[in-house]
Amino acid sequence: MTDPDHDSRAPDRPYPDGGREARSASDGSSGQRPRDTATGADETTLDPWGSSTVDDYRNLFEEFGIEAFDDVLAGVPAPHYLMRRGVIFGHRGYGRVLDALRNDDPAAALSGFMPTGDPHIGHKLVFDELIWHQERGADTYGLIADLEAHSARGLSWAEIDEHARDYLLSLIALGFDPEDGELYRQSDNRPLQDLAFELGIETNFSELESIYGFGGETDVSHMQSVVTQMADILYPQLDGPKPTVIPVGPDQDPHVRLSRDLAARMRYFGVTEAYASFEADPAERALLAEVFEALSSSDEDDPVRCVAAADWLAERDDGSAAAAGAIEKLRAAGKEPLRPRTRFLDRNATKDAFSALIEAVEGEKRVYEGHIDSFELSPEAADDLAREIELDHGGYGFVAPSSVYHRFMTGLTGGKMSSSIPASHISLLDDPEDGYDKVKSATTGGRETAEKQRELGGKADECPVYELYAYLLAADDDEFATKVYEECTGGERLCGGCKEQAAELMREFLAEHQEKRAEAEALLEDLDIDLDSPRAT
Ligand code: TRP
Ligand code: SF4
Repeated sequence: MTDPDHDSRAPDRPYPDGGREARSASDGSSGQRPRDTATGADETTLDPWGSSTVDDYRNLFEEFGIEAFDDVLAGVPAPHYLMRRGVIFGHRGYGRVLDALRNDDPAAALSGFMPTGDPHIGHKLVFDELIWHQERGADTYGLIADLEAHSARGLSWAEIDEHARDYLLSLIALGFDPEDGELYRQSDNRPLQDLAFELGIETNFSELESIYGFGGETDVSHMQSVVTQMADILYPQLDGPKPTVIPVGPDQDPHVRLSRDLAARMRYFGVTEAYASFEADPAERALLAEVFEALSSSDEDDPVRCVAAADWLAERDDGSAAAAGAIEKLRAAGKEPLRPRTRFLDRNATKDAFSALIEAVEGEKRVYEGHIDSFELSPEAADDLAREIELDHGGYGFVAPSSVYHRFMTGLTGGKMSSSIPASHISLLDDPEDGYDKVKSATTGGRETAEKQRELGGKADECPVYELYAYLLAADDDEFATKVYEECTGGERLCGGCKEQAAELMREFLAEHQEKRAEAEALLEDLDIDLDSPRAT
């Protein structure tokens, strides 16, 4: 096994996590094959309906721009063990959710489940993440993605009803408080559908084609399930903008990215920095910042003129499109002085909202057709003002949703943990004895003989049984998980006894979980959620 990262990271953790090597995705394949979906140079695919495989989680940082969870870990109040152990490995924009949690500001957490089979121990990771956020004060939502299961996976409504019930019972049994949080199914949530419809106006087919590989044969309901998921993700903000975290597997990242785009597109105003009256894209803007920095002096009578800035850039022209664009715009602006400012761009504002913003910007400002420049407001203050005006005029004022990503669990038989291969996973509904048996027959990272194991140690990093300890069985007890790891790799622990211990813990866990599920029945009955679809097919 080669993992150059291994030694350097190990000391950062209470113990090395079990998932750093090759790991692959959950759930079986869809009727619709992965097309040219988000594919990186080394063939990592992130396909919500395919069987995503992730060979090396580090690729996700470089290729897709997912940020490392390690970078925010220090700011997490009493981190969950899945965070401490590196099972939760990545995020997008989670910092703003952490800030809100720390300051007791409004925050939300939401995730969704396609009711295509039994909930299993892989889903438990997400249940735990939701519950953790709920316990820290976030408004927490769990939803049943029944429209998606029906359209993208072809499940009947009767099957969906049954599985939906099972997901909800397990979520409640694990500690979700349904009175404090909200559980819903996509198909009977009217405000959700209305939001999906609005978001559909901002989404076009070529975009779905490039993100998901949709084509002429893709059915319309599948596309509708995408805008429905976009609405799910923004749903917690219907009663006011707030940082929202979406805990999911990395296969859902394409959805997260689209939702972040849509959140911005729905805004009335965009706020950017600017240097002159013309509009510039981010790359051009970076060059304008550079040239301004280089040429400006403190002498107010001697401002940097756009033509002079163009000349300066032309001399250093690196041949990039950004340089060409910036030079052309600067020349066209002629003698206009370069001056840093904060710009409000009109994206979707109503006329009234645009006029109201003009009124509300204090201090020196200039008004153009599609934007307003303020020479006194900081970008942060401008952002707050833009949102305030938007909310006053009927807009949503969405904050970009954030996400956290967890590693996929390895199947007990090696390879993927898949809902469609019963021996590969442990269902939360499995008879405790069956759970015991499945662990006993799991693949391990052990050596061929006990003798060799004593001599060389086991390969805990490649062992699905060790993963069970780290992801579930050791729960909050870091010391215990570390002990298993060290005894294994040190050759003191042999697979027979190790599996016996894990199997017994699994039996206990399942028995206890199922008792709690039985207790959760009454709570579920009391909720206003219809688990008998009136639909025929
Ligand atoms: N697409 C998700 C899945 O395949 C389910 C889902 C629907 C979801 N809406 C969501 C997940 C919103 C997170 C947030 O499992
Ligand atoms: Fe896996 Fe336990 Fe064997 Fe180590 S001793 S390889 S953790 S089963």
